[in-house]
Amino acid sequence: KSVAVLGAPFSRGQKRRGVEHGPKVIRDAGLMDRLSALDYAIHDFGDLNFHQIEKDEPYMGVNSPRNVGTANKVMSSAVSRAVGAGHTLVMLGGDHSLAIGSVGGHAQQCPDLCLIWVDAHADINTPMTSPSGNLHGQPVSFILKELQDKMPDIPGFSWMKPVLSSTDLVYIGLRDVDPGEYHILKNLGVHYFTMRDIDRLGIQRVMEVTLDHLLARKQRPIHLSFDIDAFDPSLAPATGTPVNGGLTYREGIYITEEIRNTGLLSVMDLVEVNPMLAANREAVEATSSLAVDVIASALGQTREGAHASIDEIP
Ligand code: ARG
Ligand code: MN
Ligand code: MN
Ligand code: MN
Repeated sequence: KSVAVLGAPFSRGQKRRGVEHGPKVIRDAGLMDRLSALDYAIHDFGDLNFHQIEKDEPYMGVNSPRNVGTANKVMSSAVSRAVGAGHTLVMLGGDHSLAIGSVGGHAQQCPDLCLIWVDAHADINTPMTSPSGNLHGQPVSFILKELQDKMPDIPGFSWMKPVLSSTDLVYIGLRDVDPGEYHILKNLGVHYFTMRDIDRLGIQRVMEVTLDHLLARKQRPIHLSFDIDAFDPSLAPATGTPVNGGLTYREGIYITEEIRNTGLLSVMDLVEVNPMLAANREAVEATSSLAVDVIASALGQTREGAHASIDEIP
């Protein structure tokens, strides 16, 4: 099995500049070296190229719809191609609106996939419920079949079809959910674990229930969409919408270790690292090296190490 890394330097799903440099700072933090220490072929597919659409007026309050829609179309075919070629894919964002194309392209190859969304936010606003108009707070509403009657036709998205049902999705780490989002989550009966649930149950139980819910009936490919703001801002300060009270380092790594242990991880997004929002260099480095740790752990780096068998040790 081989792993491919694809950068998506895109920031039009929200208003703060800088998140388009995410792929570069995550690579600079040593991503490829860390992954090459794990034992499979690893390919760097470089960064996608998104050309700008100059005239892109807001539509129904949604910002940059044509740029986000078109970039996600590019994203979707790139992800579909990589998965179709047999790679496990790591997508480096960029803002979280990219998950529309990432999950969409993945589903083209793996229609039975399930989605684990690790985030402080539910990112399930529809264009009508969004308080900000930012598409990085809306990707899940584009993905879910059950929400399609609530979705207006947004320019740039005519190519997009909803690909998942709400039972195929579990959230972990929520602690900042908008009123409209809460209503949707409850209405659809989406499975989610807030930070309070993690406090009550412990991360071990949360992962057990999550994987049981998604995989008990059949084994299927996992799409992990990991927003770095799921972590506590003390660990991941360089991000656009930090929220206090997030995952500890060990909780975050436990999540990716458990996903890795299923052997079913097929595509992973690591999004919302924004080096321009950090107070200093150290804050950028802390955030991007955390991103590297999360990715390496999802791909098999363990805390007990990968040791040669005892008789190979001189
Ligand atoms: N819920 C807020 C909104 O809709 C914030 C979303 C933050 N999303 C993210 N991917 N960081 O704008
Ligand atoms: Mn978030
Ligand atoms: Mn269930
Ligand atoms: Mn997010």
